[in-house]
Amino acid sequence: MGITQPSHQLLDALRTATLDTAYVSLGGRRTASVHEFYRYPARFSPGFAAAAIEAFTVPGDTVIDPFGGGGTTAIEAQRHGRHCVTADINSLATFLTTAKTSLYSDSSLAEVDAFAETVPSLRLKAIDQNDADWRAAGYWRNIESPETWRVRNFLANALRASADICSNDSEMLTRCALLRTGQWALDMRESIPTVGEFREQLCQDLLSMAEVARLHRIHVLETWGQPMRPSVVESGLPESASDPAFREVGPPALVLTSPPYPGVYVNYHRWKVRGRRESPAPYWLANRLDGHGLSHYTMSARNSIDLYFDKLDAAMNALATLVSPDTWLVQVVGFSDVHSHLSRYLNVMESAGFIEARFGELAVDAPDGRLWRRVPSRRWWVSAKDMEGVARNTSREVVLIHKLR
Ligand SMILES: C[S@@+](CC[C@H](N)C(=O)[O-])C[C@H]1O[C@@H](n2cnc3c(N)ncnc32)[C@H](O)[C@@H]1O
Repeated sequence: MGITQPSHQLLDALRTATLDTAYVSLGGRRTASVHEFYRYPARFSPGFAAAAIEAFTVPGDTVIDPFGGGGTTAIEAQRHGRHCVTADINSLATFLTTAKTSLYSDSSLAEVDAFAETVPSLRLKAIDQNDADWRAAGYWRNIESPETWRVRNFLANALRASADICSNDSEMLTRCALLRTGQWALDMRESIPTVGEFREQLCQDLLSMAEVARLHRIHVLETWGQPMRPSVVESGLPESASDPAFREVGPPALVLTSPPYPGVYVNYHRWKVRGRRESPAPYWLANRLDGHGLSHYTMSARNSIDLYFDKLDAAMNALATLVSPDTWLVQVVGFSDVHSHLSRYLNVMESAGFIEARFGELAVDAPDGRLWRRVPSRRWWVSAKDMEGVARNTSREVVLIHKLR
């Protein structure tokens, strides 16, 4: 299966979707699809993922995303009738992808609704031993201040209360709602909402997420005729390349992905509470372990760009073992220093055995024959200081398309 040569029409649609930045700017508080269950940093737009899947695959094909992040590729593959295997080194990312792509039964969703009904009467309570364990392990760092402790205690109490009502799947969706509302309340904002405001928002998020999850299940069942879900691999390249989930599906028709960018330090794993104070609280809410620094998720520490390219090299060589000469590899990449990093990036691709494909339909007016786009506003995931860097260096991203030689 797969597509030998994408049509002009589908490439035009891919170009339009790539250049459309409305989605991210809009992506605030609405809950129109499972994509909005959590704002994972540096995610690409659903429209871009959908257009790439339609241009390079046909229904029934397999799409993989080895740097899957918040699950954009996985959701769009699932919605378009394509099999999908996705992986990420970040346990928060794999939790979110699983929570967003699960097909919740009506009884699970009824449990989430029932929990939402109890939220207006939830009060702050003293913390228990389980909370004390998370605190002792450091997951409450920077959410213990006079401004934040009430929201934190409310989250702890809500987790406890939901455990009384919810079973496995509904507990996952409830945790995802707590992550969503917690992110709204604590991440990248100066003024922390009151407990009353938080309670109201949580209730709203639980109810709207349960409804959106129900519509998602109906859409997937109509598309597939059966409850199909992506496989989520809980580890990163190069190790994940040997995971049975990748091996079992055989070579994919499309790899659709966006690795960390060279020299761009995105905070995938922390909330920034009241300025630059980093909190690992998302892992507490997801019931996952973190324990890594930023460089673990960005493939290198600041000022060690050589290490980044060594890791990219290992990752791309491992990825090459998963694909066939018919597989398209479509990736979005940005650079802190376009001039030197783009050529190094392309050298890594070439040495891993990939050759670049360029399409005139995508690169209208672009002197280098590639599709470039402006990075939409991402103020919510970078610090003010990093924002200067974004404005100066990383305001553009490129879509790179390759095939195995
Ligand atoms: C730019 S984000 C991907 C965002 C994704 N396209 C989305 O829409 O949400 C890059 C991801 O790569 C992950 N990552 C970093 N190193 C990795 C590795 N060695 N293997 C797999 N994933 C890795 C990070 O945790 C992060 O989630």
